[in-house]
Amino acid sequence: MTAGADSFQTVRDALAEGAVGSALKLRGWVQKSRSSGGILFLQLRDRTGTIQVTARRNEIGEEKFASAEHVQVEGAVMIEGTVVADPRSKSGREVRARSLDVVHAGDPFPIFLEQTEEFRLDKRHLVIRSPEHVTTFRIKAALLRELRAFLDAEDVLEMTPAILTGNPAEGGAEAFQIDYFGRPGYLSQSAQMYLEALLFPSERVYAITPSFRAEKSRTPRHLTEYQHLEVELAWCSLEQLMGFIERMMVTVLHRLATTLPKELASLGRPPDELLAIQAPFPRITYVEAIDRLSKAGFPVHFGSDLGTAEERALTLEEKSPIFVTHFPAELKAFYMLKSPGDPRTVEAADLLGPEGYGEIIGASARETDVARLIERLKAIGAPVEEYEWYLDLRRHGSVPHAGFGLGIERVVRWMLRREHIRETTPFPRTPSRHTP
Ligand code: 4AD
Ligand code: MG
Repeated sequence: MTAGADSFQTVRDALAEGAVGSALKLRGWVQKSRSSGGILFLQLRDRTGTIQVTARRNEIGEEKFASAEHVQVEGAVMIEGTVVADPRSKSGREVRARSLDVVHAGDPFPIFLEQTEEFRLDKRHLVIRSPEHVTTFRIKAALLRELRAFLDAEDVLEMTPAILTGNPAEGGAEAFQIDYFGRPGYLSQSAQMYLEALLFPSERVYAITPSFRAEKSRTPRHLTEYQHLEVELAWCSLEQLMGFIERMMVTVLHRLATTLPKELASLGRPPDELLAIQAPFPRITYVEAIDRLSKAGFPVHFGSDLGTAEERALTLEEKSPIFVTHFPAELKAFYMLKSPGDPRTVEAADLLGPEGYGEIIGASARETDVARLIERLKAIGAPVEEYEWYLDLRRHGSVPHAGFGLGIERVVRWMLRREHIRETTPFPRTPSRHTP
């Protein structure tokens, strides 16, 4: 029963060119099965795909056939058989079993299509076996891989900053507080401050870490825990950073469209739509955005935040991501550099996903002057002494630099046109749920 791993082939091997006629051994899980007239039809899934397996009573024997008939959806089996052409199946192939061993027949699988969303979230550990989830997580893995490949080619070094911290980077209000041996600790909202420290010896650094936001916002684009890619570049202006972001997005989206076209299409994103995205992306200033929104009937003025509805209106008709730049300083974090030509605004840019999806990247040039940073911290009522170590970075070789944060799940949601961001992550964390 426990044959060595390499004596098994995969569904991919069975579907490969020239495989018809070859003998192989497969093992995996049963997606569905039916028995009719002494023939058992199984849809078998392994990590590489699915294929139909047929097993005849007179070939595999009475006893094995009877036990195979009891295998439930998601039961596990091992088969030996031959690949045959089958024009009726979608793949044009099936495997005709010579022998079939049940590894685990399983209990009746409790997941059906018509169940409520709450029930499906309770059973998330089982629901994630669905073809949609399998494909989504494969694309997400490829996205992470391609981002790393791009950053590596650009000589940006991967770092491993701390997640437990005494400084909530993006404003204490939305940080999860924990008891750190009797002192307050926080779960990281952003690796930015640590990346800024690491930038001085290495100039170009990034990290992919979980970030935590204790936001009660129940929107289809907020998680309380998400994967955050953050990049920090020395000797970099906002303009140069936007160029970097455009190159990164175009390179990665085109790579995904060429390496996973079928997977993207199966989830509602024709790969050609990603291939059509080219740099430079459209750019509008915050002031222009406010102007557009107020003409569209939104009650906005200089200083209004752009929320879900506003970002949706700005991007609904767009096919490409767009940059919104130069936000009012009071809307953005204390570390952002004031615009040289306009003290009311900062050198910040949000990249908004098209088709109504909204913010996927937050970027800015950083304030380099220690006195101005202290002034900004005081203005927002932050405890300056807790930022002493961060202020040190502006006391020893402070140089112009800029960086951004990209929400991995936000990108996947837009790319795969998912209604809710929770479908882009296996165990979504939202205000109402942190289990399973
Ligand atoms: O705009 P944010 O809050 O920026 C920062 O945290 C900066 N310190 C990043 C940096 O410059 N190093 O977050 C960055 C991105 C957003 O654009 C969004 O894509 C994602 O993180 N994000 C979320 N994704 C899912 N759920 C949430 N609750 C998110 N909050 C932010
Ligand atoms: Mg932001």
